[in-house]
Amino acid sequence: MTKRVAILISGGGSNMVALAEDMRGDHPARPVLVLSNDPAAGGLAKARRLHIPTHAIDHKPYGKDRAGFEDALQNALELAKPDIICLAGFMRILTPDFTAKWAGRVLNIHPSLLPKYKGLRTHQRALEAGDSEHGCSVHEVTAELDDGPILGQARIAIRPDDTAETLTARLLPMEHQLYPAVLRRFAAGDRTPVTLQA
Ligand code: GRF
Repeated sequence: MTKRVAILISGGGSNMVALAEDMRGDHPARPVLVLSNDPAAGGLAKARRLHIPTHAIDHKPYGKDRAGFEDALQNALELAKPDIICLAGFMRILTPDFTAKWAGRVLNIHPSLLPKYKGLRTHQRALEAGDSEHGCSVHEVTAELDDGPILGQARIAIRPDDTAETLTARLLPMEHQLYPAVLRRFAAGDRTPVTLQA
């Protein structure tokens, strides 16, 4: 049975595009919704061009009412009935209530070699630490931020003249390979980790 995938974004949605384009072929899943917490997210227009239903829930009116935002999110998801939720550049932290409700069905891509550098500024932190390599991870989303079981990692070497910007530019294409490869396996019930090396 083809799995239904909802993709949550906040910005440009390049990972969403990579996931959606990979699902156009022979694939165990297909996209049924692209949802953004920012109505102005560039990824919404990209999703419309890919003929994927979109929805925006502006988180700003909710202020600190995370539960209120998530009620609206849950309502939208209950209409789309996804089997899998992919966070793809989604910048809102989800509450333990939400992650428990969707346990085992939410994936996220994070731009570091987890468990290193959870949270933000991952490229800068890898550079500041003098690391020789960097990368991205796809993991199952659990109550703790950027902490769930790892389902895939892609590694790149850090070069002496690298900056956060050059690392970002070199890592993003690897994200666009890793996330679709992980989703393809996950949707087929295969949790064998994917490992990629630039
Ligand atoms: C990516 O670096 C991703 O790892 C992080 O958000 C960034 C932007 O993603 N979660 P996208 O271009 O909006 O998919």
